[in-house]
Amino acid sequence: MKSQYQINHAADWHYDKNRAPSTELQHVGHINVDSAQEIVKRMLAQPYDLGGIKRIHSGNPAISVDNASINERSRHMRDLGYTKDHYFIEFNNDIVDDFAASMKQKYNLLYEHHCAIIIPPGQCMPVHGDTYSYLMRFMKRDNPEVKYDLKKNARRYLTFLTDWDWGQSFGAGNAMQWQWEKGDTYAWDHKLIHWCSNAGLAPMVFFEITGLEL
Ligand SMILES: [Fe+2]
Repeated sequence: MKSQYQINHAADWHYDKNRAPSTELQHVGHINVDSAQEIVKRMLAQPYDLGGIKRIHSGNPAISVDNASINERSRHMRDLGYTKDHYFIEFNNDIVDDFAASMKQKYNLLYEHHCAIIIPPGQCMPVHGDTYSYLMRFMKRDNPEVKYDLKKNARRYLTFLTDWDWGQSFGAGNAMQWQWEKGDTYAWDHKLIHWCSNAGLAPMVFFEITGLEL
């Protein structure tokens, strides 16, 4: 381990590890995910045939974001000891479009993008704060006339597509979640650090949608 990565204090939050968790991670709904169960089964059986991309924490993002802070982060991850064997699988294609359409409507989102993620047993999504680079880039390119404030209008929701299993955890700020059921949906404070880890024996699958509420 060559260096200590300093967490970027990008959120309007206290960053005091000893303070009790408060409202930084919110359970915002329980969605019916029955319509996504068949595709989840297929994603788990043949992830790469269905367009899943291995996303390695120490580099090689699924979508090139050309973002200096993400590139710097990848370099630090390599320094910390993350290797090409540390990854999750991301689906940025249309396989969960129907589910995304219902989520878009439920949460009044505009200009949304979405993905589905598999965290295999033994893998994690290391602690990070979202940069919204992709959203900002396509808004600038495709919708330059739309005025928005990232902190006020950007939304990101995470919905679990598999039930919790022993060994799995999900956190944001000082709050931790476990025992979720598929359909449980969460949001966290803007740019707040969050992560999940799978020390269990079953894969974790979740869906994330990002967009603007104007
Ligand atoms: Fe994130």
